[in-house]
Amino acid sequence: MTAVDTEPLAWDPLNEKYKGDPHPIWKRLRDEAPLYYNEELDFYAVSRFADVDAFSRDPKTFCSSHGTVLEMIKADPIDMEMMIFMDPPEHTRYRRLVSKAFTPRRMKLLEEDIRTLCAALLDDLTGRSSFDYVQDFGARVPAYVIAALLGVPPEDRDTVRGWIDESFHLDPETGMSNDVSATAMFGFLEYLGATLADRQKNPRDDMFTDLVNMEIVEEDGEPRHLTLEQAVNFAALIGSAGTETVARMLGWAALTLDKNPEQRAELAADPGLIPNCVEEILRYEAPSPVQSRWCTADVELHGGTIPARSKVVMVTGSAGRDERAYPDADRFDIHRKFDHHLSFGYGIHFCLGAALARTEGRIALEETFKRFPEWSVDMDGAVPLYTSTVRGYTKLPINV
Ligand code: HEM
Repeated sequence: MTAVDTEPLAWDPLNEKYKGDPHPIWKRLRDEAPLYYNEELDFYAVSRFADVDAFSRDPKTFCSSHGTVLEMIKADPIDMEMMIFMDPPEHTRYRRLVSKAFTPRRMKLLEEDIRTLCAALLDDLTGRSSFDYVQDFGARVPAYVIAALLGVPPEDRDTVRGWIDESFHLDPETGMSNDVSATAMFGFLEYLGATLADRQKNPRDDMFTDLVNMEIVEEDGEPRHLTLEQAVNFAALIGSAGTETVARMLGWAALTLDKNPEQRAELAADPGLIPNCVEEILRYEAPSPVQSRWCTADVELHGGTIPARSKVVMVTGSAGRDERAYPDADRFDIHRKFDHHLSFGYGIHFCLGAALARTEGRIALEETFKRFPEWSVDMDGAVPLYTSTVRGYTKLPINV
């Protein structure tokens, strides 16, 4: 029995105490308080797979337009035109439109870029006895991939990566809102605005051009396209949604496989096992472990009521470890057979970049195994990162 087992049940997503290993407290939430209420911060939380799944499928009752990060949810809808904060019908229209920019052709081209990029980054590290798997590799891959996806020219990619990195700067006092991240975000948005405006006049074969030019015809027969501001917001959203998450996933992969060396050896011998391993890593350590919603109607659950106009946290990271959904859920198993997990969200907000993230995970691991079939993580140098939106490691030194 650990200290966590005997304490009164209290949880909030950013409590320092649970950052290291939140799994014991999440298990207590699932078992003892499947509908949990935090009086101090006035929010409800659901942690079982079935509840997170059901809430994700009901965007009318559990809506996103008031924000999806607990600290930012207010009684009024937020004023930010990003699809992740939209409800139907606006979300439906917007998602149909931007999905057109994720064409199979563009994804296929990107796959070649991802392999070249992973190979180049890892070749540079070959010959060293140690390096930082996240700083030197895992965090670099997604920022360059998003830049390539959008159509950022190679000479601007380092600058763009710098803005994306700094936009996630955490201040010990003020968290994610601070001058470093605001300045970086401002620089990135200005760059996006100028580049997108340029593509309106000088189209190229890239996603920037698709975003400003593509059009859909609505049910009312009206053609619609994104405004310049909407296109900037979308590019900024994928810049943030598609980088930190993938960097965390790759860090979890390096750590979890080092803790399971027999399974790592199997993967090194048979790369065909890697795609299922990526799914298992996502289930086992969700890179984005909490999603929040605003509840629009009274909801009865587990003998209690979530009143309308409440904040609700869906503990996705806990859903992945729910033994009601996954036998022996705390066991990491690259051969586990399962239909779905919730680590990319579910329902209408299901991660738009899921296919890309899976491809990045697969290729990053394939290229890693080609050069480094074994490694050992130096936990003394590892630096955990737990923000309002992601959980994982920002530094993960490995000896190879
Ligand atoms: C391992 C990597 C990733 C994880 C774990 C992840 C996780 C998630 C989750 C949980 C959601 C749902 C949020 C909610 O319901 O409130 C989401 C949505 C989203 N993700 Fe990802 N994501 C990843 C990679 C990416 C990538 C690479 C991109 C972009 C290329 C991306 C773009 C988006 C977008 C645009 C949405 C909003 C979709 C909508 O509102 O309809 N994500 N992601």
